[in-house]
Amino acid sequence: MATPDNLSGNRKHFLDLGDISAAEVRHILDGARRIKARRRTPLESDKVLKGKSIAMIFEQPSLRTRLSFDMGIRELGGESVMVTGKEIELGERESIADTARVLSRYVDGIMIRMLDHKQLVELAENATVPVLNGLTKTSHPCQVMADVLTFEEHKGAIEGRTVSWVGDSNNVLRSWVEASAKLGFTIRIATPEELQPRADLIEWAKANKADLRLMHDPHKAVEGSDCVIADAWVSMGDKDAGRRHNLLKPYQVNRELMRSAGDQAIFMHCLPAKRGEEVTDEVMDGPQSVVFDEAENRLHAQKSILAWAYGQSFA
Ligand code: CP
Repeated sequence: MATPDNLSGNRKHFLDLGDISAAEVRHILDGARRIKARRRTPLESDKVLKGKSIAMIFEQPSLRTRLSFDMGIRELGGESVMVTGKEIELGERESIADTARVLSRYVDGIMIRMLDHKQLVELAENATVPVLNGLTKTSHPCQVMADVLTFEEHKGAIEGRTVSWVGDSNNVLRSWVEASAKLGFTIRIATPEELQPRADLIEWAKANKADLRLMHDPHKAVEGSDCVIADAWVSMGDKDAGRRHNLLKPYQVNRELMRSAGDQAIFMHCLPAKRGEEVTDEVMDGPQSVVFDEAENRLHAQKSILAWAYGQSFA
C-alpha cells in the first residue's frame, strides 16, 4: 500500500508497516527502547519536535492513542491540538484532500484515527506534512510497534519466534502480519472459518514471504508459542455483534488455552478488553499477561515513530 506523497526533505508518512523497510522498522524499535530508558532524564537532543505542532484528529473514541500521543508530543518538545472528526465534519464539509491541504498550512504533522483507510491514504497524498495512522478499520501499526517492543522486552529478539493470534481477524492482526514479514517471525492465526483473514492480506503475506499459518483450532495455534494475542470480538465499525459473539465463543483466551500454550507464552491484548468475552480475568491479571506494558509502550514506540517521521532518531 505504498503512498505517493508531497513531503519534502526527509519527512515521511507512517501509514502501514508494509510501506516501510525492515531496517526502518528495526530502527524505530531501537529508538523506542532508548527513549524509554531515558524518559525521566532526556537529552536536549531528544526534543525532536521543538517548535512543531501536531494535529490529532479522532473519528472514534480513544484512551491509549489519544493520551500516549499527546504526552509523547509534549515530551519531545512539541505541541498538540486535538479535534474530533465530528467537530470538523470530516469528509462532509469539504473533501478529504482539501482538509489535508488546509491542515498542512497550520500544523507540522497530522495524527488521525479514521475508519476508512482509503480516506487516510487520500489525506496523506494531499498533505505536505507527515500523516500518522492512529487506527483505521484496516490497520493499527502504532499498536503493533508497541506490541513488538513489549514482546522483545519480555522474550528477546522476535526474529525466528512464534506468535499466535486467536479470535477475529481485524486491523491489529493485519499490522501483526505486516510486522511478521518485516521482522521474520511466524504468526499462527486461529479464527472461525467465517472470520478468516481477507484474501488480500493472505496474498500480501505470500508476496512478502510472511510465515503465516492459518487454522481454526485455538489450542493447536497456541501450542508452544511465545505469545498469545487476543483482541475484542467486536471492533470499531462492526455491525454484527451477536453473530460474532456466537462464532468467537470457542476462541476465548482462558486458563485452559494458556495451559495449552505453556508457561513460556506471554499474553497480549491491545486493550480495551471485554473481560469475560475474548479473555478471562485470570488471564488478564495473571503472571503471563503483559497488557499494561503494551499500553505503556504505545508512548515510547510513538515517540520513536514521530522522530522517524521527521528524519530524526534517538541515538
Ligand atoms: N489500543 C488502542 O488503540 O486503544 P485506544 O482505542 O484507547 O486508543
